[in-house]
Amino acid sequence: MKIAIIGANGQLGTDCSEVFSQNHEVVALNHSDIEIADIDSVKKVLGEMKPDVVVCTAAAHNVPKCESEPNVAFKINGIGSLNLAKISAELGYKLVQYSTDYVFDGSKMKPYTETDAVFPQSVYGITKYAGEQLIMNYCEKFFVIRVSGIYGKVPCRAKNNTNFIVNMVNAAKTKPEVRVVNDEILTPTPTREIAKNTLSLIETDAYNLYHMTCEGETSWYDFAKTIFETLDLKTPLFPASVKDFPIVVKRPFYSVLENANLKKIGLNQMPEWRGALVSFLKENYYP
Ligand SMILES: NC(=O)c1ccc[n+]([C@@H]2O[C@H](COP(=O)([O-])OP(=O)(O)OC[C@H]3O[C@@H](n4cnc5c(N)ncnc54)[C@H](OP(=O)(O)O)[C@@H]3O)[C@@H](O)[C@H]2O)c1
Repeated sequence: MKIAIIGANGQLGTDCSEVFSQNHEVVALNHSDIEIADIDSVKKVLGEMKPDVVVCTAAAHNVPKCESEPNVAFKINGIGSLNLAKISAELGYKLVQYSTDYVFDGSKMKPYTETDAVFPQSVYGITKYAGEQLIMNYCEKFFVIRVSGIYGKVPCRAKNNTNFIVNMVNAAKTKPEVRVVNDEILTPTPTREIAKNTLSLIETDAYNLYHMTCEGETSWYDFAKTIFETLDLKTPLFPASVKDFPIVVKRPFYSVLENANLKKIGLNQMPEWRGALVSFLKENYYP
């Protein structure tokens, strides 16, 4: 297959490029190569390239910035998705778009499946949900994949080249003590595992909405504790409450996703979160 990856130098795009190119022809597209919010750019680049699959990892997903610049967020997450859907439908390409656990409000307090009602709380979540709907309504060959708490060896470009692991390592080096919330629950997930499971999925015709996160759940504090213990960081780490920090944007306090649709088709390949994290840290942070 010929696979176009949009956002190829981002956190998820880097792993998708590496994993997919082991068995397929990959065309890596950075932001300077394509602007998803511009239909002419999408048409020109993807029309000339003629891939079998378009994988979009691009998004406006700096959550506070989406709140202060809602028109930019809608343009990229909403209109950008519509542009990709229209051109993919017109030219017969499969389309992968990644979405987020932030489409939920967290009140269920049990893992969310793909059939659960959404209730996004922020401009980011609302615009990503709009993108999901536009893709599922304007394109037939779609894989909309919700991910959560992601980290990769190339940190997130939209978050100033950081992710939670980078932030914890930096905090341990520069602060006398570190406090992390233990009442916000998620499932940390490495981008490499998402790339691997995405590849298995796009080799099928099982077009659908999917949740794709590691198995299990944890708090940000326990996520941090595993990082500190594995990397032997000695700075004192303490649990805190979300109430201890100012609320800049509303976020779900519980956003665990159940990979129900992957399980239904026998394609859930996601590992348990803690083992995946320890492996990632040993591979990328050990001398
Ligand atoms: N990070 C998380 O914790 C998290 C959690 C849940 C879901 N997600 C979703 O996961 C996906 C991937 O996230 P990530 O962390 O890999 O992101 P990332 O590191 O910020 O990478 C995004 C890539 O897309 C490019 N891009 C941004 N806007 C674009 C546009 N308008 N047109 C074309 N390219 C554009 C960026 O280029 P420039 O940087 O040069 O602009 C960058 O290469 C996103 O859909 C995000 O919503 C992320």
